Amino acid sequence: MAVIGKDIAEAKQLLSEGDLVAIPTETVYGLAGNALNDQAVAKIFEAKNRPSFDPLILHTNSLEKVKSFVREIPQSLEELAKAFWPGPLTLLLPKKEIISDLVTAGLERVAVRIPQHPIALELLGELDFPLAAPSANPFGYISPTQAGHVQAQLGDKIQYILDGGACQVGLESTIVGMEEDQVVIYRMGGLDLREIEKIVIKVEVRSHSSSNPAAPGLLKSHYAPRKPFLVGDLQKLIPEYLEKGERFAVLSLARKFPLPADFPQYQLSESADLAEAARHLFGYMRSLDESNVNLILAEWMPEEGLGRAINDRLRRAAALG
Ligand code: TXA
Ligand code: MG
Repeated sequence: MAVIGKDIAEAKQLLSEGDLVAIPTETVYGLAGNALNDQAVAKIFEAKNRPSFDPLILHTNSLEKVKSFVREIPQSLEELAKAFWPGPLTLLLPKKEIISDLVTAGLERVAVRIPQHPIALELLGELDFPLAAPSANPFGYISPTQAGHVQAQLGDKIQYILDGGACQVGLESTIVGMEEDQVVIYRMGGLDLREIEKIVIKVEVRSHSSSNPAAPGLLKSHYAPRKPFLVGDLQKLIPEYLEKGERFAVLSLARKFPLPADFPQYQLSESADLAEAARHLFGYMRSLDESNVNLILAEWMPEEGLGRAINDRLRRAAALG
């Protein structure tokens, strides 16, 4: 089993030797390795059981370092970087030679972000290489938002998990790039689109095209729990499944429903605060997936702000594409 600890020097040592370390970020925990070391990058794909056509995000701690990995930063994207880094924003930028095709799965652009987590930033500041880090979950499963989640699923594949507590955002970063002069959102995430629209006027959201080869990670079943997961109107779904005699769990935004006492039921945020809901989403999905039920019933969030990103994850959990 991996050791869970707060020893940044230990993490640095392992990473410098080409080993993997799970690291905290404000979005979700990442499974990190030296992005400039192909063997370390290969270990990431292997540990996650991730297909090699699904590229990785580079993590570093300064815009200056980012510039050493990419050929250019279009002005609109640099404005976003200045406004939101460190933070839950990933930019797709034309890569320099130094970044291997293994990291980008052969694509011209590399995904880069500066995470906002004191431990991650301190670690990145001490490294003379960027970290490639996908979410630290087996491919296709829910992203981890606590060190214990990583331990439960990848603990036998890595030596060290750097503990940074519970992730404050709870959803993966928002992925943004440019096509011609158009700013494109490839994955809705922890950075609210309305914040992005304050800086660059018009964005195009493309994150629902699950077959888009430019963002191959956006596959239908991403983020899926193992139990059947249904999303809809709980007022209708609950009586329907009670009638069928099913034992189920309920995941709602704020409402509580009358249910048999031993049916698990979680509210993502009692005050219907979408940032709080985002923070709780993956942890609650995990607990319900591990609970003693046959299926999970959930409801849609209001389609605004982070609610849109949460709905995207619910849609994928339900394999609705
Ligand atoms: O918040 C996050 O972004 C977390 C933390 C650890 O930073 N990382 C994360 O990585 O969510 P991952 O690998 O689970 O998801 C990255 C997504 C994938 O869907 C991948 O296909 C896409 O980013 N991606 C990475 N590089 C890309 C590229 N060059 N072009 C298009 N999509 C890319
Ligand atoms: Mg992931």
